[in-house]
Amino acid sequence: MYQDRIRRPALMEKLMTAQQAARLFRNGMTVGMSGFTRAGDAKALPLALVERSRQEALQLTLVTGASLGNDSDGLMANAGVVARRMPFQSDAALRRKINSGEVMFIDQHLSETAEQLRSGDLHGIDIAVVEAVAITPDGGIVPTMSVGNSASFVQQARQVIVEINLSAPLALEGLHDIYLPAARPHRGAIPMLTPWQRIGSTTIPVDPERIAAIVITDSPDSPSNALPPDAETDAIARHVIAFLEGEVKAGRMGPELLPLQAGIGTIANAVLHGLVDSPFRDLTMYSEVLQDSALELLDSGQLAMASASSITLSAAMHDKFIRELEHYRKRVILRPQEISNHPEVVRRLGIIALNTALEFDIYGNVNSTHVGGTHMMNGIGGSGDFARNGALSIFVSKAAAKGGKISSVVPMVSHVDHTEHDVDVLVTEWGLADLRGLAPRERAPLIIEKCADPAYRPALRAYFEQALQRGGQTPHVLEQALSWHMRYRDTGDMRTTSI
Ligand code: COA
Repeated sequence: MYQDRIRRPALMEKLMTAQQAARLFRNGMTVGMSGFTRAGDAKALPLALVERSRQEALQLTLVTGASLGNDSDGLMANAGVVARRMPFQSDAALRRKINSGEVMFIDQHLSETAEQLRSGDLHGIDIAVVEAVAITPDGGIVPTMSVGNSASFVQQARQVIVEINLSAPLALEGLHDIYLPAARPHRGAIPMLTPWQRIGSTTIPVDPERIAAIVITDSPDSPSNALPPDAETDAIARHVIAFLEGEVKAGRMGPELLPLQAGIGTIANAVLHGLVDSPFRDLTMYSEVLQDSALELLDSGQLAMASASSITLSAAMHDKFIRELEHYRKRVILRPQEISNHPEVVRRLGIIALNTALEFDIYGNVNSTHVGGTHMMNGIGGSGDFARNGALSIFVSKAAAKGGKISSVVPMVSHVDHTEHDVDVLVTEWGLADLRGLAPRERAPLIIEKCADPAYRPALRAYFEQALQRGGQTPHVLEQALSWHMRYRDTGDMRTTSI
């Protein structure tokens, strides 16, 4: 029943099909769409835009919270609807278009898009497309399973299209906390002093005059595609837990730790899952996405509450979350990504940031985005927001990829997302390197001996020794620094010859 979801009667006349709403778009427009890590994405308009692009030229700049579900990113990319895309994606088809140069991808810190839109650094949003549970009598939009950048899009856009999703339970109402900072330079502090604080409203305010269309949908979010934990992620989790126990023992934090952030993907989810077997209690999360592991920790009682910008779950966990929403809603808050990831708040709360590296080098620089130095995987997402500003920045990775043919510990990373200055701790299944207070020359042996796959350690030691002879604060043999990547490119295996 959509009638009890559109609670401002005058808006009923804005009801239309997605195909009709797609007629509002013009070639070259900038469109802001809801959706963050496959949660709360607009479901009908992407398909209608693909359909429309078959009849006439339609190339858009698409700005979202983060990745879309329902293959929308791939379908729109393949249809040529997306000319420019920001700030994050994780779709295989879109990734191909980005790497072939057909789509211009702006890989952005997730806290920053809203700020750049507000300040006019980016082209303004022409049309916002936002998935909602309902529209309240005063014209408030109730988001679904993510907030992302939706509030900023709605604030900015000349026209707003609301997709009311009937599969999103009405009980989601009240879960969200919408707060947007004022424009600079006359801005006060964001009044967030604890992760569980509510500082805004439960709906996204919108002038009803700007609502150009309301479309009814009932497709659910795509389930999470994170894989279950394995022996290696279990080992990584054990190292992280032992390290955090050491921090508590040393008196640097209490048994409730500091608020936790965990990145997207299989490894971060699996590491967080490992905390179920830890002694920690009364934990809090101040993160950008809640995966299955967050719910497991809420269920085990170890996690007291979780704040994020989206909830991305497996199908089974999604059903449980919806069934037991009354229980979870007291413990979960969804915020705009500008707030969940805000440097000011992340620094103030002292977040423990746990993110995943594709590779890191012997000095602690981290690459989270580029394969072989050139090809985009997903994007930096929120990892930079948290790693740069958190109290502790931990990066995890399996020590090797592709059956051991790629070492995740390399002489020099082929692309830098997080510099040595932003990285405190590195962890693989083999061990943990605590880099705090160490100079590059002290970091290298620790990273090699603790984190590298034993098959690669002799070659890494040899590289470091040779580099030391050249001298420097951060010694390198520049002509060989990327030779491991070149060898993989040429032979399909980093191991085949010694450096
Ligand atoms: N070179 C090439 N490929 C590599 C690699 C390397 N050094 N290291 C890992 N990979 C491949 C894996 O083989 C795997 O490939 P497959 O999908 O073909 O099997 C893929 O990368 C994903 O790795 P996986 O081990 O499954 O880890 P993951 O699901 O945890 O994802 C990232 C890891 C880095 C891709 C992911 O965490 C990411 O996109 N991070 C950046 C954004 C971010 O950190 N956001 C955090 C805030 S939400």
